Amino acid sequence: MAQTIGLGTQSWTNGPEYIVGAAPGRLPLLGHALPLRRRPLEFLSALPARGDLVTVHFGRLPAYLVCHPELVRQVLRDPQTFDKGGPVFDKARLLIGDGLVTCGRAEHRHQRRLVQPAFHPVRVRGYAQQVVAEVDRATADWQPGVPVDVSARMHTLTARVTARTLFSTDIDEPTMDELAHDLSVVLGGMHRRMVAPLGWSARLPTPGNRRFQRALLRLGEVIDTMIEDHRRDPADRGDLLSALLAARDEESGEGLTGHQIHDQVMTMLSAGTETTANALAWTLHLVGTHPAVEGRLHAELDRVLAGRPPQVEDLPELDCARRTLTESLRLRSPVWLLTRVTTVDTELGGRRLRAGSTVAFSPYSLHHDPALFADPEVFDPDRWLPERLEEVPRGAMLPFGGGARKCVGDAYALTEATLALARIAERWRLTPQPGRPVRAQPRMTLGTGPLPMLPVPR
Ligand code: HEM
Repeated sequence: MAQTIGLGTQSWTNGPEYIVGAAPGRLPLLGHALPLRRRPLEFLSALPARGDLVTVHFGRLPAYLVCHPELVRQVLRDPQTFDKGGPVFDKARLLIGDGLVTCGRAEHRHQRRLVQPAFHPVRVRGYAQQVVAEVDRATADWQPGVPVDVSARMHTLTARVTARTLFSTDIDEPTMDELAHDLSVVLGGMHRRMVAPLGWSARLPTPGNRRFQRALLRLGEVIDTMIEDHRRDPADRGDLLSALLAARDEESGEGLTGHQIHDQVMTMLSAGTETTANALAWTLHLVGTHPAVEGRLHAELDRVLAGRPPQVEDLPELDCARRTLTESLRLRSPVWLLTRVTTVDTELGGRRLRAGSTVAFSPYSLHHDPALFADPEVFDPDRWLPERLEEVPRGAMLPFGGGARKCVGDAYALTEATLALARIAERWRLTPQPGRPVRAQPRMTLGTGPLPMLPVPR
């Protein structure tokens, strides 16, 4: 967020409130493609100092990065004008279908009304039953002092938890292993396919492309088998798929079609797995590198749990765990860039935008803006203490987005991640492996890359 007026030659004032600026270093033809590709987090985080609405060029095409939380709110609260769309969403639709994440405004209200009940707090409690058992399975082979790749483990963990949430216990072990593997191949390959300027490169018969297509196909087959199985015996199994199959629109009485259910399941697997895995991996890394925070977390877990497994009922008591997770979501927001496309000519922050303009905002750059968070680079879970909450400006903290398109799985993700963090940290200390620096990897979500850590039983 720009604090002063007159930030160099490329910024100018527009209207009483907001500063409209332009990103520095635009090259002919390439625009800002190089810094966006090579060091997107640093590039985006420097932009709030240039203005509240900053023009960035993807090649020759301008996009508008919204850097002021109030303007971001305007975008999020007006999904009719600022809709999902554009080439990245077109490509995503080809891969994961037209579910809740990718569908446009015309479909969204109907879909959201049908999907929302599947995330009712009572159902979320049921889904969370699986978490501790899956954490214990994921950590069963940890040996004192023998490095484990915590990132890889968290990806497998959340893939399995999401699959159990969707299909309860009906999914057998070989299918589960296959699904976790295929999902990692698909999520790993999606980023490249979504941002690749040349669509045809993904269709070449290379081994990587073939592996990706096979994994995508198998994932689709598992989903279809699970849907058929649930349809044959339509009793409510307490899982997410049962809720999707039972959903009826209150106004029309209509449910989701088979095709729509398939797309929603694919959407949940894609949207719920990597995000939560990266949130957990970052949290474990941050806890392992901040002994004072680690000490407070361990003390809370010892006091509240005294060695027994955490349950949903413990969550209100696990205040330090929740704040630690929230602070990790701020500092290393898994979703680091979001985009919308204007459906009509409009105005934002005093600037005219033509229909079809790309508008973007970065939770990462908002969360790192010193005008919004004091000492933004410091990992400080105490900034989320109740008495300090009012220091956070409205709309500055957006790990789950906001408005009508806010993450439908936010409460579930926090429940899952808090239980997983509590279970791991009550039993293990994890310290980083020396000589292996961790660098944020901004892909489809913000990953840690390989994250070797040394487990020590507590
Ligand atoms: C820490 C974990 C998570 C983070 C950080 C996260 C973040 C987000 C964000 C930022 C959005 C908004 C996207 C936009 O505005 O364009 C979103 C949407 C969504 N998320 Fe999550 N998410 C997480 C976990 C989950 C889980 C566990 C599920 C489901 C199992 C899920 C399902 C969805 C869906 C379906 C949407 C689309 C909602 C709509 O447009 O109505 N997410 N998520």
